[in-house]
Amino acid sequence: TRHVALVPAAGSGARFGAACPKQYLQLSGRPLMWHTLSTLCQVAAIDEVALVLSPGDEWFDDYDWTLPKLTVHRVGGATRAETVKNGIAALGLSSEDWLLVHDAARCCLSVAMVERLLTEVADDPVGGLLALPVPDTVKRADRDGRVSITLPRQGMWLAQTPQMFRAGVLSQALAGDLTDGVTDEASAIERLGLKPRLVEGDASNFKVTWPRDLPLARAILEARQS
Ligand code: C5P
Repeated sequence: TRHVALVPAAGSGARFGAACPKQYLQLSGRPLMWHTLSTLCQVAAIDEVALVLSPGDEWFDDYDWTLPKLTVHRVGGATRAETVKNGIAALGLSSEDWLLVHDAARCCLSVAMVERLLTEVADDPVGGLLALPVPDTVKRADRDGRVSITLPRQGMWLAQTPQMFRAGVLSQALAGDLTDGVTDEASAIERLGLKPRLVEGDASNFKVTWPRDLPLARAILEARQS
């Protein structure tokens, strides 16, 4: 069986609100997602790193992406789930191959985190994901920005990526209706009645989402380089 990292990078970064999609913002002299791809390429067990871009992507060709194992597929869709589904179809995998789907915008991923996931999920019949136990008390807001309910944090986790599933099961999970909030691969797998394994990730593996996230990502990457 092969291990293929699939990186959806066809988002527009609407919440970030920059002139280019957030995956192309400069960080330590490289586009943000270069760091993501570079880390995945450094994981010995990963055979291929498949990047999925939007067909209309105007930025990729402006930069140097000479990385071993990298393949590029311009088949992104309107949602993250569609991008992943199209990417899998473009790859020609066997159903037993492992896919590790990872957000382009989680650029502070480390090799050690990926290896922990690979080790803990290797013999799992379902697959699993990196995630973090919720440290804070969780509130749901009403329309006026007031607390309507406090949710018990006991047993609550924040889903991160990579999310690691067999190609066959993930294709089957993504073949269903993707319109109702499938924001990660695990939720599509859960709809099949399966229970993905939670593997503890790290707070540094956050998704760059808002401009305030950029200085932290830069500090983490520069601390690791020096
Ligand atoms: O929007 P969000 O931050 O949740 O996106 C997570 C990842 O999914 C990003 O890497 C983004 O580029 C990707 N994405 C995609 N296709 C879309 C929307 C998001 O590949 N249509």
